[in-house]
Amino acid sequence: MRTPVIAANWKMNTTIPEANNLVSQMKYKLNLMENIEIIICPPFISLSVIKELLKGTSIETGAQNMYSEKEGAYTGEISPQMLRGLCEYVILGHSERRFYFSENDDIVNKKIKSALMYDLKPILCIGESLIEKESNKTEEILSEQLDKGLHEIANNKDLIIAYEPLWAIGTGMAANGEEANITIKFIRDKMAQLWNKTTSDALRILYGGSVKSNNIIEFVSKPDIDGVLVGGASLKAKEFLNIANQIDNYQQ
Ligand code: PGA
Repeated sequence: MRTPVIAANWKMNTTIPEANNLVSQMKYKLNLMENIEIIICPPFISLSVIKELLKGTSIETGAQNMYSEKEGAYTGEISPQMLRGLCEYVILGHSERRFYFSENDDIVNKKIKSALMYDLKPILCIGESLIEKESNKTEEILSEQLDKGLHEIANNKDLIIAYEPLWAIGTGMAANGEEANITIKFIRDKMAQLWNKTTSDALRILYGGSVKSNNIIEFVSKPDIDGVLVGGASLKAKEFLNIANQIDNYQQ
């Protein structure tokens, strides 16, 4: 049995007071949900405040990125050593980082290795563009992202993979649940080849891209989809609680 995950990716939104306010509105209700693992990924500057606010709850935190080096002359960067203790997870390889900040699979690979070295659990994001999907290249692209992104990384059940088709992110055009399940099954089979079947069966693989309260069941009701990475809808307390609640109840 894989425990379902709901991860909130706030992206570059919320000031510290806003982050504080958003978590305060949700934490008691989220903490009552016992069948899901909940991860809040605010901007770096709010991690510390939120970690404090969540003390005594089962809600975890994640960073949205990090640099691969431990410390040094890398102006503006945040290292895994700095994140240790502030979060359990770190999102790596998000398509917005790949697109706006030219992160390629080799960079993502270095970051994953580094995160694991510092006991941070990576949430590796992979996904194809619309053109790639339309030219039937989805499997090829995902395979390559996994081969390169996980190069020389040993079996690790703590890794979470988020399948986020680029055309579904922030567009309101979520993938079809059936199709997402087929793709996620493909990812799981690929991980069985890359690592082994036991690990691949234990890995949580999430769907992300325009997840909302009115389509969440379409995803979490599928056998290979183990939860969701939520962007826009995670910034509204009521909506995020609604999504989390539906996943929590679905499992019972
Ligand atoms: P979205 O973003 O839910 O706003 O589509 C998802 C993500 O980018 O993680």
